[in-house]
Amino acid sequence: MTKQRKKADERKRSPSTRRTTRPGRPVFKRVCVLTGGGDAPGLNAVLRAFVKTCEPLGIEVWGSEDGFEGLIQPGRLVQLSRASVRGILPKGGSILGCSNRANPFAYPVVDKRGHETAVDVSDDVIGRVKKHQFDALVLVGGDGTMRHAAAFTQRGLAVIGVPKTIDNDLVGTDYSFGYDTALGTATWAIDALHSTAEAHDRIMIVEVMGRYAGWIALGSGVAGGADVILMPEIPYDLERVVAKLRARSEHGSTFSIVVVGEGALPKGGARSTVARARKGQLERLGGAGEFLAEQLKKRIPHDIRVTVLGHLQRGGSPTAFDRLLGTRLGVRAARCCEHGDTGVMVALHGQDIVTVPLAETMRSPKRVDPNGELAEAARNIGIELGG
Ligand code: F6P
Repeated sequence: MTKQRKKADERKRSPSTRRTTRPGRPVFKRVCVLTGGGDAPGLNAVLRAFVKTCEPLGIEVWGSEDGFEGLIQPGRLVQLSRASVRGILPKGGSILGCSNRANPFAYPVVDKRGHETAVDVSDDVIGRVKKHQFDALVLVGGDGTMRHAAAFTQRGLAVIGVPKTIDNDLVGTDYSFGYDTALGTATWAIDALHSTAEAHDRIMIVEVMGRYAGWIALGSGVAGGADVILMPEIPYDLERVVAKLRARSEHGSTFSIVVVGEGALPKGGARSTVARARKGQLERLGGAGEFLAEQLKKRIPHDIRVTVLGHLQRGGSPTAFDRLLGTRLGVRAARCCEHGDTGVMVALHGQDIVTVPLAETMRSPKRVDPNGELAEAARNIGIELGG
């Protein structure tokens, strides 16, 4: 058992590490929750479970609309009750709305000359939290939101993080909700593309999301029976991809399925992007599939088509797994409010919901191990990983 896992297990046995509660007396009585960054299926499950657990404990729940926007702009805070979360479990998106522009440490504003610039409005956020007498903030989000959670903790706010991302790259939790739904959507798409690829003797390239992690690419590629899977963790050798596709033709397979993570890049080459990074905002990835198609067209005679799944992977109704995970994390976050357990992220470790210090989530993102079991399993069944 790793040291980290041991510590988490100890915390799991005694969830109230900071303060003790008297029955019927939650440590925090008025809290504010927000869904930061891009949306992910399962956000509503978290909100519903959080509100439903808090209400009987006597904890008043407020929601900040569009991520941190509600704590920056006036009139964007709403009180949440059991009535406001009724019927939302199967719904994608977030009833509070999301924003990956409302970064409190680099908030976009237009200066006097009409140029967009970024300013630090974190003091305003802290001011708002105090003004509204919120005892704690519950921040549901990905790595960016967890960084904000850790920074506000250092500035003296009581913060609880809840991990969300379809990319599944957040360190400190085995899975984040949203990933399973995105994986299912990508796998469904690969299944659907098989029949049309076969009918037209085509090479179908499917570009999937995941940013700098190949969890969606590798997972959906293996589950969907792809022939080639390219992901950010393994810069690919184009000649290996070409050799695999030629070999399939020579052995009588008239079509091939190639799954490309949006962050995949050729050996010695660069990632495909559609927008550069700006202060407080990540670069936007896109075009890895088209780039690969252009390279392949020069080398093989097949008809090639590219499908970019894009935001389809973030939309739709969450799977049962994501609803369950979101519900369990939401309940645990409420318990953290009851017990005053803050500076933590609620997380899934194995079969258990635990808390981990927010500081632990600041380590490098969780990425696919190029020589790990899943990558090896893919290679064993003949999938070309490009390197
Ligand atoms: O982090 C989740 C994610 O969906 C990534 O997979 C993707 O690169 C990015 O967000 C897209 O962000 P946006 O919604 O800003 O286009």
